[in-house]
Amino acid sequence: MPKPKASWTARAAYLMWISSTVFCLACHYLEIASVGSACLDVSLKYRYQKDAAEYLKNKIKNGGGGVRGEVPMPPQIAIKPEDADKVIAPSSVIPKV
Ligand code: HEC
Repeated sequence: MPKPKASWTARAAYLMWISSTVFCLACHYLEIASVGSACLDVSLKYRYQKDAAEYLKNKIKNGGGGVRGEVPMPPQIAIKPEDADKVIAPSSVIPKV
């Protein structure tokens, strides 16, 4: 697996931010934790985890709690699978720089 570059991480957070629609932004901010984790924290936390894409995709689809605290994330049924892919798969969508 190629080593993620710092710029990927920044782009990943940015992508999560822009490809998130209004209903994600209700609970996720770019840099600051709100109801849900900050986009930047998520992208940093999972950047070396091999099965991150699958794990996060399932988490978005099915929701769930216990990682950050008591409050679970409701299943995000309104997001299209291809948009979920973009949100969580930085290395496949971010051009090499
Ligand atoms: C109603 C509030 C709410 C909405 C809306 C929401 N989330 Fe979340 N999200 C949360 C909470 C709370 C957590 C932390 C869950 C935990 O502790 O396991 C979370 C966690 C996450 C995580 C990290 C999962 C982990 O296990 O570390 C990702 C990725 C994520 N959300 C993406 C999204 C996306 C993409 C959307 C929009 C399609 C979205 N969320 C909409 C509340 C929300």
